[in-house]
Amino acid sequence: MSDESITCDSTFEERRKQDGRKSASGLRQRVHPDATTSPNLLEKTLRAEPPTQSAILSNADLIIMRQRKHRMKLMTWIACLWWTGLSTLVQADGDATAGKALFAPCMACHGQNAEGNPALNAPLLAGQEDWYLYRQLNHFKTGIRGADERDIFGLQMRPMAMLLATDQAIGDVVAYLNTLTPVPAHATLNGDPQKGRALYRLCATCHGQNAEGNPAYQAPRLSHQHDWYLLTQLKHFKAGIRGKAPNDTFGRQMQAVTMTLMDEHAMKHVIAYIKTLGQ
Ligand code: HEC
Ligand code: HEC
Repeated sequence: MSDESITCDSTFEERRKQDGRKSASGLRQRVHPDATTSPNLLEKTLRAEPPTQSAILSNADLIIMRQRKHRMKLMTWIACLWWTGLSTLVQADGDATAGKALFAPCMACHGQNAEGNPALNAPLLAGQEDWYLYRQLNHFKTGIRGADERDIFGLQMRPMAMLLATDQAIGDVVAYLNTLTPVPAHATLNGDPQKGRALYRLCATCHGQNAEGNPAYQAPRLSHQHDWYLLTQLKHFKAGIRGKAPNDTFGRQMQAVTMTLMDEHAMKHVIAYIKTLGQ
C-alpha cells in the first residue's frame, strides 16, 4: 500500500464539514453496503467498558484502548481511515434516464450495450462497479489517466470524458451503465489458466477470489472484461503508461503489483485464469 492511502491530512471534523458543503451543492455520499461501520458505531464500541468485540480491531488494539489516554487518539485514527476510504465513494447522485442520453456518443466505441469493441480497443463498461467507473471518468477528465503520450487508447478516451461537463453528468452516465446487464467477454488469448492460477493468488487479495472486484481496496471487477483489454492495461501499468501520476493513488498500487508479472507470458496466463472465473 502506498503511504497516501493511509494519510489523513485533515481531522475528521474538518472532513465532515467539507462533505457538508458537497452535500449542499447537490452531491451525496454514496455509502457502499460494505461500508457499514459509522463513526458513531465506532465511538460506541470504543467507549464500551470493556470494549465489545470488534471485527476491525485486534486484541492488542483493544488492550491499548483500555488505557484512557490512548482512546481519543485511536478513535480519531480509525475515524480517519474510515473517512479516507469513504470519501473516495463520494459521488454525484446519478439519474439513469439522463445518463442514457449522455451515453449516446459513447456507443460509437463502447457499443450499444456497453459491451466493448475489440476493433476500437474500447473495453466493456456494463456491470463494472460504479465507484470505479466514476473514478476513471474523473481521472481521464483531469489527466490523471490517459495523459502519457504513449497511451494512444487513453488519449482517445480523454476528450470523451470531457464531454461529461459536471460531476452530475458523470454520475448520470454511470447510473445508466449500472442498469445494463454485462455479457462476460469470451477468451481470445492463448494463456494457460493452470499456470495463471498461482499468479492470481496475489491479485485475489484485492480483486476478490472470483475477480468480482472489492470496494474496500478500490479494485475493479475483472471477470467479465475483455482479455485483450486486460492485457493492454497490465502492459501499460508495468511500463508506467498508466498509474504514473503522483496523485493516482490506486493506479500506483496496481502499477507496483505488475512488477510481480515477469513478462507478457505471465500476464497472459493470469488473464487466462481470470477468464475462467465468473463465466
Ligand atoms: C473514440 C472511441 C471512444 C469513445 C467515443 C468513448 N470511449 Fe471510453 N474508452 C475508449 C478506449 C479506447 C478506452 C480504453 C483506454 C485504455 O486502454 O486505457 C476507453 C476506456 C473507458 C473507460 C475506462 C474503463 C476501465 O475499465 O477502466 C470508461 C469508464 C469509459 N471509457 C467510458 C466512456 C464514456 C462514458 C464515454 C462517452 C462519454 C466514452 N467512454 C466514449 C474509447 C472511447
Ligand atoms: C493492492 C491491491 C491490488 C492487487 C494485489 C492487484 N490489483 Fe489490480 N487493481 C487494483 C486497483 C486499486 C485498481 C484500480 C486502479 C485505478 O483506479 O486506476 C486495479 C486495476 C487493475 C486492472 C485494470 C482494470 C480496468 O478495468 O482497467 C487490471 C487489469 C488489474 N488490476 C489486474 C490485476 C492483476 C492481474 C493482479 C495480480 C497480478 C492485480 N490486479 C493485483 C488493486 C490491486
